[in-house]
Amino acid sequence: MKQKSEFPIYKPEYQDHADSRLIAQPSDMRMGATKIKNRMARKVFIETYGCQMNASDSELMAGILTQSGHQTVTDIEDADVILLNTCAIRENAETKVINRLEHLNHRKRRESNLVIGVCGCMAQHLRDKLLEAAPYVDIVMGPDAYRNLPMALNAVVSGDPYLGLQLDKGEDYADISPIRKEGIRAWLTIQRGCDKMCTFCIVPFVRGRERSIPLNILKDDVERLVDEGFKEIVLLGQTVNSYHDGKHDFGELLWSIAEVEGIERVRFTSPHPADATESMIDAMENSPKVCKQLHLPLQSGSTPVLERMRRTYTAEEYRKLVQKLRERIPQIALSTDVIVGFCGETEEDFDKTHTLMEEIRFDSAFMFKYSDRDGTLANKMLDDDVPEPEKSRRLNEIITLQEHISAEINQTKVGTTVPVLVEGNSRRDNEQYHGKSDTFKSTVFPKENAQIGDIVNVEIHSATAHTLIGQIS
Ligand code: 5AD
Repeated sequence: MKQKSEFPIYKPEYQDHADSRLIAQPSDMRMGATKIKNRMARKVFIETYGCQMNASDSELMAGILTQSGHQTVTDIEDADVILLNTCAIRENAETKVINRLEHLNHRKRRESNLVIGVCGCMAQHLRDKLLEAAPYVDIVMGPDAYRNLPMALNAVVSGDPYLGLQLDKGEDYADISPIRKEGIRAWLTIQRGCDKMCTFCIVPFVRGRERSIPLNILKDDVERLVDEGFKEIVLLGQTVNSYHDGKHDFGELLWSIAEVEGIERVRFTSPHPADATESMIDAMENSPKVCKQLHLPLQSGSTPVLERMRRTYTAEEYRKLVQKLRERIPQIALSTDVIVGFCGETEEDFDKTHTLMEEIRFDSAFMFKYSDRDGTLANKMLDDDVPEPEKSRRLNEIITLQEHISAEINQTKVGTTVPVLVEGNSRRDNEQYHGKSDTFKSTVFPKENAQIGDIVNVEIHSATAHTLIGQIS
């Protein structure tokens, strides 16, 4: 059995802990046996905050809990265990969870058996300090400790909180079957952790070192997903394109996933510009199943700021990469992440970001004010010296700019026909479907005779900054 530990345990090989699994393996399940004896089968509600990786981890948690005889529920009122799967990337992500916990504590006062767990990045970040802020929390569990969830549920029956905060380079959960929501798009984690050490970023400290899941396992996963009816696979990793399983790189993985019979689309998020290798670009250019769409986080258009962020590329190198991508894949849609108000960012630095965004014209962008995170390299080495109102002004300026650009780009799609994978009813109108185009644009159109999971050609007749509206042609 794995030891509960407060300290990082680094294991060099995946196989190292293959026989220390706490969870019943599929063969055990077939025999109707579980290795863990549950004192009590629980009804667990998992609430997810933050990025897609967290959404994927929640599916993993559901898999671990179900395999050990617990049940996940979709209505929080039915639950006797509530797990918040949290984010730590910016301060407001943590504030949201603290507020939510206070609300849940009201319920706990009425239902003393209710178990409240904080899982994920914020748990790993705040550790036992979280219990000082919210002493009614029963479980504090970081992203590498989910295998211990059933054990934690047993342990808290005694009334003591359970802390699972070991980071484990050997943990890839490759043997666990996540429980996914039905649909046409499946998220598949191919890599965990991050080795990049961008100075602003908390991720390496809360998700540990980078590790990739072997390609043959991923290929089997994808074959299973196709059998289950999924049409689109989104490969997930913190810096997804630095994937390397010791034998195969990211480009090889893309090719081999795209070759799985029955797959319609392959996407991935989020790559790091420094790892945009020839092998990745080749797969994007030449595999018809790999979508011509790339989320390529820029962070800043100023080289001195990028240097302070330790992004390992200059603004010029980023510009050249975009040029190359557009030469090779002319229809490519690009989106990005930008941080304003990073330590020492001058007006001139900010202008460079603004100008580069004007020049590149991303299809869309996620834009953030820099948020100083305890434990990061920037927090230790640099001054968070851009005043809050200035951060807000800069953020508003680029949001306005990007909204214009997104609207203009979408406008150019009017009159064209785009292939859309039908996902489900549109949120506003049951007579309409919504889906994503090949370049990941949200598209809405009347249903006609199309079925969910079909790829239909939609002629676009109008557009907003965020949506294309059309008709099946
Ligand atoms: N402050 C603001 N934004 C951040 N991001 C990461 N760390 C921070 C931080 N400390 C942004 C980056 C990253 C995205 C996921 O979140 O733009 O690409």
